[in-house]
Amino acid sequence: MQAHFVLLPGDGIGPEIVTEARKVLERVAQLRGHTFDFEEKLMGGIAIDEAGDPLPESTLAACREADAVLLGAVGGPKWDDPTAKTRPEAGLLAIRRQLGLFANLRPVKPNRHLIDASPLRPELVEGVDILFVRELTGGIYFGPSSISDDGRQAQSTMVYSVGEIERIVRIAAEAARGRQGRLTSVDKANVLEVSRLWRRVAARVMEQEYADVAYEVVLVDAMAMHLISRPRDFDVVVTGNMFGDILTDEASMLPGSLGLLPSASLGEPGPGLYEPIHGSAPDIAGQGIANPLATILAAAMALRHSLHLEPEAIAVEEAVETVLDSGTRTADIAAGGASASTSEMGDAVVTALG
Ligand code: IPM
Ligand code: MG
Repeated sequence: MQAHFVLLPGDGIGPEIVTEARKVLERVAQLRGHTFDFEEKLMGGIAIDEAGDPLPESTLAACREADAVLLGAVGGPKWDDPTAKTRPEAGLLAIRRQLGLFANLRPVKPNRHLIDASPLRPELVEGVDILFVRELTGGIYFGPSSISDDGRQAQSTMVYSVGEIERIVRIAAEAARGRQGRLTSVDKANVLEVSRLWRRVAARVMEQEYADVAYEVVLVDAMAMHLISRPRDFDVVVTGNMFGDILTDEASMLPGSLGLLPSASLGEPGPGLYEPIHGSAPDIAGQGIANPLATILAAAMALRHSLHLEPEAIAVEEAVETVLDSGTRTADIAAGGASASTSEMGDAVVTALG
């Protein structure tokens, strides 16, 4: 097949890790007889520097024409000035909103080779396999917000409509059907009116359309505990934008390394956006030591969700597995032992693809 990727390398280690993911995609195309082409665009801090906008119009236009968008990372201390007119993160929020990417899939599955890197005891973490489905274009991130003229009071509002809740619950329930058939919805219905609506709508959708999926609701504060005390008990977890932001950061610690976790942001219709869940790591940028595996696994998610090339996606995931089996490690997961560079790691995956 023919597919057009837009690459948004972004800031910090972004360009280094996206280069490796591209290598892997090129190899997949070569091996399986596909034609992938790649277009690089500005996004994040570098886009503020070069175009005065974290999401320039030409970047957004290119993304709309893409089959899939692969993002490295955005942000860094250079753009951290709280008085600045705009920030790299604003570009990320804008692209999610503009492309209608309302469903953010964040799988958390510790790699068996790295289980000892988890801050939790191995017996708690072994077998964990959670798919977080985070609502990404609504809630308190996008509700009305304001600050009073005297600057002494500010507000941000959590807003969800029935339609927004229905569509994200359906995505999560469909995903659960393809997995262990269990869905947990996380809210704060004991306090928030918006959560009470979420709970009513989710329950109705599940009862009417997904009676075959085991369904439970958990309050967000309790969920924060359960993720640490019994993370194995969860299959698919659906929640709103801010709760999902916080819980996925918490869950990302279960595997012990951020360097292996990809994410996908999907909407209908249009391209999906794929990225590692880690940040731009400015402290190690440009040194060629960053771990490209999360971005390579994000590319695998692009093959699966946007290009519907499931065998190719599995081939990439298995190649990553083979490389880890063979003991190849970047510094972040080497536990002080010998380590491969970013490009050596990418090359190893390319080789493992066959
Ligand atoms: C994430 C990030 C973003 C978010 C920031 C960078 C805007 O934390 O993708 O989880 O809060 O959504
Ligand atoms: Mg976050």
